[in-house]
Amino acid sequence: MAEFIRELKRTHTCGELTAKDIGKEVVLFGWVHNRRDHGGAVFIDLRDRAGLTQVVFEEDISAELQAAAHELRYEFCIGVRGKVVSRGANLNPKLPTGEIEVHAIQGTIFNRSETPPFLIEDKIDTAEEKRLHYRYLDLRRPSLQRVLMARSKMNAVTRHSLESLGFLELETPFLVKYTPGGARNFLVPARLTPGKFYALAESPQLFKQLFMVAGFDKYFQIVKCFRDEDLRLDRQLEFTQIDLEMSFVTQEDVFESVEVLIAALWRELLGVALPRPFPRMKFADSMREYGNDKPDLRFGMKHVDISEIIRSHQGGGVPMWQSFGQILKALKIPASANFSRTETDKLEEIAKGMGAKGLARAKVGENGEWTQSPMAKSITPEARAAINAACEARPGDILLFQFGKESLVHTVLANLRVHLGKRLGLIPEYGTRDPEKAESWRFLWVVDPPLFEYNEELHHWVAAHHAFTRPHDESVQYLDKDPGKVLCHRYDLVLNGFEIAGGSIRLHDPVVQEKVFAAMGISHEEAEEKFGFLLRALRFGAPPHGGIALGMDRLAMLLSGAESLRDVIPFPKTQKGTDLMTEAPGDADPKHLAELHIASTYKPPA
Ligand code: AMO
Repeated sequence: MAEFIRELKRTHTCGELTAKDIGKEVVLFGWVHNRRDHGGAVFIDLRDRAGLTQVVFEEDISAELQAAAHELRYEFCIGVRGKVVSRGANLNPKLPTGEIEVHAIQGTIFNRSETPPFLIEDKIDTAEEKRLHYRYLDLRRPSLQRVLMARSKMNAVTRHSLESLGFLELETPFLVKYTPGGARNFLVPARLTPGKFYALAESPQLFKQLFMVAGFDKYFQIVKCFRDEDLRLDRQLEFTQIDLEMSFVTQEDVFESVEVLIAALWRELLGVALPRPFPRMKFADSMREYGNDKPDLRFGMKHVDISEIIRSHQGGGVPMWQSFGQILKALKIPASANFSRTETDKLEEIAKGMGAKGLARAKVGENGEWTQSPMAKSITPEARAAINAACEARPGDILLFQFGKESLVHTVLANLRVHLGKRLGLIPEYGTRDPEKAESWRFLWVVDPPLFEYNEELHHWVAAHHAFTRPHDESVQYLDKDPGKVLCHRYDLVLNGFEIAGGSIRLHDPVVQEKVFAAMGISHEEAEEKFGFLLRALRFGAPPHGGIALGMDRLAMLLSGAESLRDVIPFPKTQKGTDLMTEAPGDADPKHLAELHIASTYKPPA
């Protein structure tokens, strides 16, 4: 008999046979998804990444084939040659292959399987730890297979789209020199240069700028980046960027290329036609209205800054508002939410969890009076009326207040806003989203942020992104006098509350560059030592240039409706940065450490 694989090649996947194939002889390879023994005949669902096909081992086949069929169990890897037959009235309308079944003529068991620790199905409640431990089995589940196939398509669409825009795919090194600022680098000991270390590239940033100096004009790369950061649901230690850099461009040109790419991804993966151009919002407006620079625009609930109102009413009669610090903001829960007092009290606990001292609140009554609030008695009617008007408060609405340091007020109210958006059903839950509708996808360019932020520990200004971002021409005058006022050509692309891309137009003018370093307290010598190779390159006729990087994993997460990056990365790390399957990170052999002249000073806690 003909031998499987060598002579009998796969003719079809397990997801493609339909009524029009009835009568054909086919060869399928796959895994036993489940098995039913109906007296004499054995029915199995054979699975590969394309789907499921029912295979029947009938009673009247050879004794040898019957014996093999009875032996089959979950996840055995097998090959089958058989005939496509109609299932007649027994069809399964839920399966694309549900009209047919394959009656086995010949079969082989390529490999038996131990009993899998969980079912290879989408709806299982197995703990994530166990799934990650057996990730290769987890990855057999259709939902994860769909995600990874979508990622493969994302890569193909990205390459196609960027190539047609004239971008070149060029590579940059992973083992690089440690550069301060930005994300924390992983260090790699250099055996060949004892005592020295490489850093793992946190992004190709400096190298892609060098490609522009070298004249490559339009670069892209689908590239791994490594950052030794604390992990969150949308952060991994190693993640993938679609990284771009372009010469002779304004930020609008960068936006155009990115929008073409994003529109192609959404069209090819979801069939959605996204309206373009994507809207833009100034960083300052985003902070004022939403308290952060990645607002989820699928719902309203804007913050209301009432600092000026309270200042002009000298505290409005409320003792704690006499000197409220940097900012006083309100957030309104509409009456329609029917929030109970206990629920509102819970919000205070959430706020405290984020570092707030408390959460002042008031319920608005029929005539604009406040109830359920310690401020009800003290607030002056004028101040109350002005706040109600600013918040457009109606009877039954609840007003939440937060004041003090701007950064804390913003963090607390931005997170409460998202919490309330979910709680009030304004952000559709996972599974109820409507990915085919363009309105489900709220893209936003956040532009014109400040170049510097004040570092209170270091007591000086540091680059909010990196030191090579071009300030607005009108802002250059503030570089030495008032660095906090300098705005720059940096931009982020936000989607449904997630930052999916960030970039900037770079600073290629050495005179302004010196001023930027000076504002950050970095001397000429120090700059040369830290960024010498880039500064030198920029002195050799560097073209004006700019770029951006998109977080591929975040795009995949949002496109597939997943809730965590771990669901879209084949072999992800846990929250603690470990790989439960390979048990990385592991111990180092003392011999290897000696070769590297390294000794660990770590002492495990007693
Ligand atoms: P940035 O640091 O903003 O820019 O990164 C670009 C995008 O990468 C994604 N991202 C991450 N995704 C998963 N895990 C992480 N730890 C992580 N960190 C970032 C985000 C982010 O928007 N070199 C610059 C780009 C440039 O200026 O051209 C850069 O890396 O979606």
